[in-house]
Amino acid sequence: MASKILHVILSCSLLFLLQFQFSAGQNVVKAAYWFSGSEYAVSDIDSSLFTHLFCAFADLNPQTNRVTISSGNQARFSTFTATVQRKNPSVKTLLSIGGGGGDAIKTAFASMASQASSRKLFIDSSIQLARNNNFHGLDIDWEYPANAQQMANFGSLLNEWRAAVAAEARSSGKPALLLSAAVSYSSNYFGVINPVQAISNSLDWINVMAYDFFYNSNSGRITGPPAALYSPGTQISGNAGITAWIQAGLSAKKIVLGFPYFGHSLQLADANNHGFWAPTSGVVNGGATGYKQIKQFIAQNKATHVFNATVVSDYCYSGTTWIGYDDTQSISTKVNYAKGKNLLGYFAWHIANDDNWALSRLASQTWG
Ligand SMILES: *[C@@H]1O[C@H](CO)[C@@H](O)[C@H](O)[C@H]1NC(C)=O
Repeated sequence: MASKILHVILSCSLLFLLQFQFSAGQNVVKAAYWFSGSEYAVSDIDSSLFTHLFCAFADLNPQTNRVTISSGNQARFSTFTATVQRKNPSVKTLLSIGGGGGDAIKTAFASMASQASSRKLFIDSSIQLARNNNFHGLDIDWEYPANAQQMANFGSLLNEWRAAVAAEARSSGKPALLLSAAVSYSSNYFGVINPVQAISNSLDWINVMAYDFFYNSNSGRITGPPAALYSPGTQISGNAGITAWIQAGLSAKKIVLGFPYFGHSLQLADANNHGFWAPTSGVVNGGATGYKQIKQFIAQNKATHVFNATVVSDYCYSGTTWIGYDDTQSISTKVNYAKGKNLLGYFAWHIANDDNWALSRLASQTWG
């Protein structure tokens, strides 16, 4: 009897070890991206509020299929880990590759991922770059593989990447590099299905970008909640996306929920019609406004601020300017949601837009 119980306990722990072989030590991910284009000083990051920091972005050279760090980023990237570890010696850093901007990077990713030989160049150069610059891991931000073939190639890339990272760890004797990907809010991105099995097998976790909703609407721009957690009447919400990822077979413990430290600024068609789903005549100032600037806008214009608890989204308006964004109640509700759903954690894009650490501190304290 006793030995049978012991046997059960041993096999359960073995299963546990196998299942969590990549994620040893990641009980929670409290993360944010630092974006070099923000010109925010790395030394000013309050790293005590985070368990993981993403350094964005390394580039993919479309000619060589190798990962590179641009000359303007070299000094800040190579010292990133040492700098953020001064305030928090246990914070882990990941070098993020790619980014959302432009067709060139999408084309470069699609072309690289289409052949085993170019995938190997990408993988080997990324590992070398991470080690040479003292990062603890690598993150791929390909937005997004655009069809079934590209998704299949993305899956092959992830599986080969994991094998190479494991082999490098065996030969170097160092802990394996962490591997993550920034992915669409749902496993099913408007009909294009993510390679969930490869993601599950080969990534430590995914950063789910549950924001930028209703941004590039072709059917005329409306004041949609840009990062709604719930959105009655539409399938476009953080909860709908997270539910889809889990139903597709991904463990909640591999999911990190993303929220924005920026809002969408729109011009109302009618100053008196300022709720959600109101018509607009376009974007203001390019559309994206950082949280810090939004707080200034509210103070300077005595703008009206509304938190909608049904969708979990904030907006503010003054005159015909309308900004949808996440303020403190949205952030704390989302962190509680992530914890309640047993997700691995949360991340924010991006650090420089926080307002004197208000959101990052709140998020960290809310998780506990
Ligand atoms: C919140 O937003 C939803 C969706 O647009 C809407 O139906 C609801 O009336 C709003 N709640 C409040 C209190 O304004």
